Amino acid sequence: MQNSKITLSTLRQAKESKRKITMLTAYNYPQGLLVDGVGIDIILVGDSLGNTVLGYESTVAVTMDEMLHHSKAVRRAVKNSFLIGDMPFMSYNNTRKEAIKNAGRFLKEAGCDAVKLEGGTEVVNAVKYIVKAGIPVLGHLGLTPQTVSMLGGYKVQGKKAKKAREIIEAAFALQEAGCFGLVLECVPWQLAKKITQELKIFTIGIGAGSNCDGQVLVLYDLLGVSLGHKPSFVKRYADVTSVVTKAINNYKKDVTSGKFPSKKQSFSMKKDEWEKIS
Ligand code: KIV
Repeated sequence: MQNSKITLSTLRQAKESKRKITMLTAYNYPQGLLVDGVGIDIILVGDSLGNTVLGYESTVAVTMDEMLHHSKAVRRAVKNSFLIGDMPFMSYNNTRKEAIKNAGRFLKEAGCDAVKLEGGTEVVNAVKYIVKAGIPVLGHLGLTPQTVSMLGGYKVQGKKAKKAREIIEAAFALQEAGCFGLVLECVPWQLAKKITQELKIFTIGIGAGSNCDGQVLVLYDLLGVSLGHKPSFVKRYADVTSVVTKAINNYKKDVTSGKFPSKKQSFSMKKDEWEKIS
C-alpha cells in the first residue's frame, strides 16, 4: 500500500521505471476514502459523474458547479492520491479567459492537483493557456465522450490508418503543448503501444490494451453498479448491484413482516419512569 503523497514527479518516475500507474474515478467522500485508502495513484473526478451519478444521458450536460461540488467532496477524503478534476464540456472550448478561469477553479475552490480535458489538436491552444497559468493538464484522446456525436457514437477510434495517424499527431501536439500525461480511450492496442513508446509523457489506457503506462476505469463499472450498457473493455471486480438489491429487498421484507426493528434495534424506558406517564 502506498502511503506517501503522489505527485507529478512520482508519476513521471513510474513511467521511467515501468511501474504501472493505477487510476480510478470517484465522485463523493466515501468513494474518495476507499480509493485513496487502497493506494490508487490517481483519482479522477470524471465528468462520467453525469451518467453514473446524476442520471444524465451523456456527459454533455454536466456543469462546472456540479463538477466542483463533487470534486470538493472527494478532496475532503483524499490524502495521498493525485486528484484530477475533469473539465466539463464547453468549459475550456470558448475563450482563453474562460478556459483559464474554469481550470483555476478546480485548483482554488476544489483543491484538485490538476485538470483533465478532452480533445486533439483543436484543444492545443487551451492546453497551452492553462499550463502557462500554472495548472497541470492531463489530455484525453481517442473516444472523447463529450463530442461523441461528432465521432458517430461510442466506437473504437483509430482503426483505420488515417484516423490513427491523426491521433498520433494529436498526441505529440498535446505533449508539446504541455500535457503531463494522456488518457487514451477506446483505441486499438497497437496504436496505444506506439504512442506510449514514442511519447515522453505517460499514457493511461481505458479500452486501449495493456501497453499503456497505466490504466483507468470508471469506479461503477469496476464495482458492477450496472446502470446500463457495459463496455466490452470493462472488467467487473464485484457485483454490487446484486448485493445492494438483495439488501434492500431483505429490508423491505423485514419491515412489512414486522421483523425489523427488533428489540435490539429499539430503545426502552425504565419501568418506574414509564409508570409515571402510563
Ligand atoms: O469521465 C471519466 O470518467 C473519464 C474516464 C473514463 C477517463 O474521462
